[in-house]
Amino acid sequence: MNGVAVLREFLRRFPRAYDLLRYLRILAEAAGRIDGKRLRAATCLHVGRGFVRKGDRSGALRLFRKGLDLDPGLNPLHADLAELLQRDSFGDAAMSLSGLVDAPELRTMLADLAQAPVLYHPSKFWTFFATLNICQLRASGLANFKQTVNQNYFNWVLNSMRDQWDILGGGQGAWAGLDPPPVPHGRKPKGWTRSQWIQYGRFVALLWEAARSQDRLGVLARLEEPLLGNPMAVRHRGRLISQDLCNSSMEINAAFEGIDRSSPRPLRVAELGAGYGRIAFALLKAFTDVQIIILDIPPALHLAQWYLATLFPNRRVFRYRPAISSGEARSELEAAEIAFLAPHQVEQLPDKGVDVFLTVSTFPEMTPAQVEMWFSHIDRVCRGVFYFKQWIEGTNTYDGTRMSRETYPVRPHWARVFDRVCPVQTRYFEALCRVGPGGREAGASL
Ligand SMILES: C[S@@+](CC[C@H](N)C(=O)[O-])C[C@H]1O[C@@H](n2cnc3c(N)ncnc32)[C@H](O)[C@@H]1O
Repeated sequence: MNGVAVLREFLRRFPRAYDLLRYLRILAEAAGRIDGKRLRAATCLHVGRGFVRKGDRSGALRLFRKGLDLDPGLNPLHADLAELLQRDSFGDAAMSLSGLVDAPELRTMLADLAQAPVLYHPSKFWTFFATLNICQLRASGLANFKQTVNQNYFNWVLNSMRDQWDILGGGQGAWAGLDPPPVPHGRKPKGWTRSQWIQYGRFVALLWEAARSQDRLGVLARLEEPLLGNPMAVRHRGRLISQDLCNSSMEINAAFEGIDRSSPRPLRVAELGAGYGRIAFALLKAFTDVQIIILDIPPALHLAQWYLATLFPNRRVFRYRPAISSGEARSELEAAEIAFLAPHQVEQLPDKGVDVFLTVSTFPEMTPAQVEMWFSHIDRVCRGVFYFKQWIEGTNTYDGTRMSRETYPVRPHWARVFDRVCPVQTRYFEALCRVGPGGREAGASL
């Protein structure tokens, strides 16, 4: 038996030793800094795990919560807490999650969603990630979300960006022609080497060049990465850029293919699962005549609302509220330039009121029943085009489900404008379907 096999056998016989080893590692780490709070937090983690084993869920939650208060940065704690909550239905988890949240608005979002029909609840996948994201926001604040939560949205780093790096010619030195060389902005992320940080800068600059070459609508020229949220930005061509700007520009150009922009009426765009609102940000910067409805679960809905309302203080914002059926709320929603709705509130939107419905990197993280439900909603609310960009093969181990490009329930009466592999993210496909007769005059008001 080699060393690893011996260790495996040892841990198989004495499973609790594994926890003890991890605990000792955390203690050793903490002792290096002589940080009493960290030690106590690590103890909470260890004892809390004991409670989990005994089946005392509320005892474990109490200890995890205490540990989180003592040391919000204790990563194993976030993961354990998320895993514990993920065992429940979202309805149960939402109660415990509310206890981790200080913002009353976010608490309301969680409580309302828990009361909504189960098909609108986050899948197991997103119950896990919503929990993790809430812990991350609690630990380092909205002010740092681009370093934390955004890594679960559409920002690629280190190994996860490798395929794109190769496609952009990074491995062949395509960055050598960038003059002046791109410079990563701000502090190198913890745990990264300097050369990884430099490579990241080159990757984002190459992505910018690719997005620029496809930017028919001139979106990129109007964009600069905001410092709000502490971005992993890069200085290139005299401005701060990011992956999110590049990808949003490519997606907007693709989604707007076949859209008639000559109408005097604003274009109404709805986005399902918008993350922090990167595409909405680009749309609001690039066009003066768009109205955007974001449909998402917390905490993303809360984050997007904070982000966009802060960056666009003069725009008419329809903030999330539990009830939107009163006449007053409806006319406010109708006039809003940016609106924030929970997923179940899609039912309150009228037929054929949306010109462009879009969603990026969302469906494989829902269950197939949820995807089917969303295709029905899209068929009802969209009078123009539906753009979706998703993994070609998306496996969701949390829910035990799988979505692939061929399995999407595209309606037979929709016309496919295109269905193609994405130019840089070649593990993704993007499809554009004409859902309604087109023509912005055809549909209803909100
Ligand atoms: C991987 S992130 C992608 C975010 C964003 N589209 C982007 O590309 O940056 C998935 C998004 O889907 C949202 N989401 C997950 N489950 C959802 C559900 N059941 N209903 C609505 N949104 C959901 C998440 O909150 C998150 O915003």
